[in-house]
Amino acid sequence: MEDKKEKRIAVMRASPRKHGNTNSLTDIVVSELRQNGCEVIEFDLFDMEIKPCTACRRCQKDWSRVACVQKDDMPAIFDAIMKSDIILLATPIYSWYCTPPMKAMLDRLVYAMNMYYGDERGPSLWAGKEIAVITTCGLRPEKGADLFLEGIRRYCKYSGLVYSSRVLCERHMGYKSVFMDDEKREHARAFAKELMS
Ligand SMILES: Cc1cc2nc3c(=O)[nH]c(=O)nc-3n(C[C@H](O)[C@H](O)[C@H](O)COP(=O)(O)O)c2cc1C
Repeated sequence: MEDKKEKRIAVMRASPRKHGNTNSLTDIVVSELRQNGCEVIEFDLFDMEIKPCTACRRCQKDWSRVACVQKDDMPAIFDAIMKSDIILLATPIYSWYCTPPMKAMLDRLVYAMNMYYGDERGPSLWAGKEIAVITTCGLRPEKGADLFLEGIRRYCKYSGLVYSSRVLCERHMGYKSVFMDDEKREHARAFAKELMS
């Protein structure tokens, strides 16, 4: 009998609005993934302490493990990422990029996971993992989310990660309009299926 391995997915939520647009899409995706047997671990970055990277480079001395010396909530994220196949970034666009806690997380990861900054160039500790994105923005996606998506594409290439072309990006037409509708629900379910394929 074929041993079907379900995916392990770490979901990084980065909207300050618990029931806002990005979280409402992410809820549908996560529920679809769980219903299909995926192992999902979620983080709400706005509820966590994530200090900025200070470029101390003490993480660069030991290439055998993730070795950031800062004391905050990042160890749980490092651990979950090392155990995951896919890292799903779920953020609204703020000033053409992700929100501040996600940016802090990405900075901490790019140093702690890539042994590129010591005396000798070492490996990427998370090479081969996949990054996927859920995002929402007020402008048309090609003018609102393009810079963030390009940034993540380069981040992946640099870190030896696989940038998923599976991106769920939806536009918010303003606070007076209802964001969620049947079309967006269907896009979210289709996105979850793509992630599992
Ligand atoms: C501080 C702030 C900055 C924003 N900057 C942008 C932006 O640069 N481009 C854009 O298209 N939308 C921008 N928006 C709109 C949000 O991306 C959009 O409303 C999004 O759907 C909010 O998601 P949420 O409900 O998950 O928080 C901004 C919103 C806020 C509050």
